[in-house]
Amino acid sequence: MPLAQAQGLPPATTGDITPEPVREGIDLTINGERFRHTGDPLMPLLWYLRDVLRLTGTKVGGAHGEGGYDLVLVGGKAVSAIKRPMAELAGARVVTVEGLASADGSLHPLQQAFIDEDAIGCGYCTAGWLIAGIDLLTRKPKPSDDDIDKLPNRCRCGCQTRVRRAIKRAAGASA
Ligand code: FES
Repeated sequence: MPLAQAQGLPPATTGDITPEPVREGIDLTINGERFRHTGDPLMPLLWYLRDVLRLTGTKVGGAHGEGGYDLVLVGGKAVSAIKRPMAELAGARVVTVEGLASADGSLHPLQQAFIDEDAIGCGYCTAGWLIAGIDLLTRKPKPSDDDIDKLPNRCRCGCQTRVRRAIKRAAGASA
């Protein structure tokens, strides 16, 4: 038993700083690769992707995920990476825009549809649309215009009409 504890004293500190507890690490899979996060468990997934792994395809949007720029797939569902702390991702399977193409380099059908429909302007919103579109097509293989318009994503370059066509083209391709 430590001497301080035997004497009924509080745990030792360094000056006024109490040492942080040892962290076990958070294991998760991102784009098929396994990673262990040993830093702050409250770090948002978005910062882990962009600042630690340098996966910068997922973009920074509003502080609460407004605009859908920061969407990634977690367990196949589109979620905001800024709102999801690492602590909630133990054992999770995360897919970012960098993980959508096949290992042989062939694009996901929705990526190809975005190219075919010229649905990319500056590209800042594209990753978010792709993730939201894949989630939508999984839930609704034949989405309506209304379904697409209800997605949280926004495009500042005015590509919404072409994005709508691209999602419908991908729906037709996979039908
Ligand atoms: Fe520029 Fe959508 S393509 S914000």
